[in-house]
Amino acid sequence: MSIKKIGVFTSGGDSPGMNAAIRSAIRSTIYFGYEAAGIRRGYQGMIEGDINDMNGRSVANIIQRGGTILKSARSDEFRTAEGRKKAYENLKENNIDALIAIGGDGTFRGAKVFGEEFDFPIIGIPGTIDNDLIGTDFTLGYDTAVNTAVEAIDKIRDTAMAHDRLFIIEVMGRDAGLIALRSGIAGGAESILIPELKSDIEDMYATLKKGAAKGKLFSIVVVAEGDDAGGAFKVKELIESKFDQFDVKVTILGHIQRGGNPTCSDRVLASRLGLAAVEALDAGERGAMVGIVHSDVKLTPFEKAAKHKMEVDSQLARLATILS
Ligand code: F6P
Repeated sequence: MSIKKIGVFTSGGDSPGMNAAIRSAIRSTIYFGYEAAGIRRGYQGMIEGDINDMNGRSVANIIQRGGTILKSARSDEFRTAEGRKKAYENLKENNIDALIAIGGDGTFRGAKVFGEEFDFPIIGIPGTIDNDLIGTDFTLGYDTAVNTAVEAIDKIRDTAMAHDRLFIIEVMGRDAGLIALRSGIAGGAESILIPELKSDIEDMYATLKKGAAKGKLFSIVVVAEGDDAGGAFKVKELIESKFDQFDVKVTILGHIQRGGNPTCSDRVLASRLGLAAVEALDAGERGAMVGIVHSDVKLTPFEKAAKHKMEVDSQLARLATILS
């Protein structure tokens, strides 16, 4: 069956660069001679028929904006067969016969089920700040989120130094520690705690003790929200139970990391992946995510892409340990 109209949507947690990906996917769709539509609020909007035709002008002036003009949502209804059937009927009514899904693991699990159930061509674009998908070196929004975290760590470092304090900074990452690892290294953290590695609290104590013995008066500990030690407040308790010389403060960066203008890297990545997604559909591909691995476009089946990347870059982990 040849494609006539491609529908684009964003789903799950938003990430900076999603707008740049929408722009690229819509303009590439038109470049290839297909019609384009935007589906608002992800799978939920698909179920409710929140769908509009789009053209090159609909995506003007968005490349630099965070968030997503198509909005995003998590849909419980799409987990049901009735919900997916409603979504399918709405796509048919709008003459949409292929989809580009911009999101993370949950988005791709939904896309896999739907694509198989209705024999529907779908290509995914990795959009999540967590960078935890298999099949791409970087996901959209990760670079921006890490830079936001580093900027915050730098600011906290100023006040930590002024008051000789120990700061525990919690960054996002329910299951993934890549934001913590990268921003911790760039922010000069003494210790970095991530969900992928069992937290070695004794090791953190030893690092802090060594630092204190050398006359280090202030310190930064970066912890991913999903770390097994139990988050920033728990780490504060642990440190306070062991040391009484530190004045310990906690800062939770939270959703600030999800917003903001995408960095140059995220904009270029989004632009490349938007075109790659349309090219993949045009070539008859389906059921896979486009990613960039070592500068080349690569397709990875949804079921593989959506598996959490659990191994951390051992070189980065080593670097963090040596420099702390
Ligand atoms: O986008 C991924 C992520 O930021 C996770 O690291 C985080 O735990 C989660 O989203 C929180 O998302 P929400 O607030 O939308 O439930």
